[in-house]
Amino acid sequence: MITRFKILIIAGFLLVSFLPASATDVTGKIIGGTDVADGKYPFVVAILDTTKGTTELNQQFCGGTLIAPDWILTAGHCAEDYTTAATIANLRVLAGTNVLSTSGSTNGTKVRVSAVYIHDNYNGVTYDNDIALMKLSTSLSQDTIDGLSSSTYPAFTVGTLATVAGWGSTAYPVTPHTYPTSLMEVDLPVVSNDTCRDVSGYDMTDNMICAGYAQGGKDSCSGDSGGPLFVQDGSNYIVIGIVSNGYECAQPNYYGIYTKVAGYTSWIDAKMSSNSGGGTTDPGDSDGNSGGGGGGGGGCSASKDGSPVALLLMFAVGGIYLIRRKRA
Ligand code: ARG
Repeated sequence: MITRFKILIIAGFLLVSFLPASATDVTGKIIGGTDVADGKYPFVVAILDTTKGTTELNQQFCGGTLIAPDWILTAGHCAEDYTTAATIANLRVLAGTNVLSTSGSTNGTKVRVSAVYIHDNYNGVTYDNDIALMKLSTSLSQDTIDGLSSSTYPAFTVGTLATVAGWGSTAYPVTPHTYPTSLMEVDLPVVSNDTCRDVSGYDMTDNMICAGYAQGGKDSCSGDSGGPLFVQDGSNYIVIGIVSNGYECAQPNYYGIYTKVAGYTSWIDAKMSSNSGGGTTDPGDSDGNSGGGGGGGGGCSASKDGSPVALLLMFAVGGIYLIRRKRA
């Protein structure tokens, strides 16, 4: 028999799960970070899908790095759903603002994507080669990142403090209310792959690097994917990693995993200089296919739409998430 006490507990639990962000929000940004000053990192862009919602906040699902006026570097898993002209037509790249609009307007410049290139060996299960390029239909005018980490830029070693920036969740578990409107950043030390394998037990390849703190508390999280992990070398910003995956977010002993950009400079150069074969293009070309790897993977598709239905759904699957290891 259900006692009044039990009903109270259930009602309380339901109430808490429906409370607005203000009541449960944490002070952390990204996770454990801070707001980015306006214009500080003009090369960090938001990637939006117009079918995911009606505002920029709800449409944003990944980040990216402006590496040329008309080229965005991002994660393979951010691009894997965009392999047809019809889906690419839903993409927008938002630049020149730190703030995702919560109305129909915009504070920045929004451009379309004309082609998507996913690494041929991207693996949607292991996240190996988690890298993609998006060619913009219109060139952007803000500063690009100054360089890609490579043999010419040995600017990072184990222990180097690198910065990660994005509009990803500020808390884990992720709910619609944990996504910030404003760009966040946090500094994380690069750790060796051996340490990362030992401590986090990840099955990682040498195409990945890890960053974070063994004690947790600071990390990237869902929605930050595709965005840059970068270092400052004199007055230059150099991208060394792409937010890729990790076990939950900011948990003790679980570092974040980033695609190691240094291993892909010739792939990037080749795609940018050819801009023809291989990519899936927006209108017109119906042939090209980027050959993205299988499905699955955590991905960055968590809905930010805060409707009661979505909340209920999240509440329902929340229990499963809690007991299941989840890539985020
Ligand atoms: N897969 C996530 C995304 O799609 C990125 C998560 C990074 N996770 C982490 N613990 N650092 O947005």
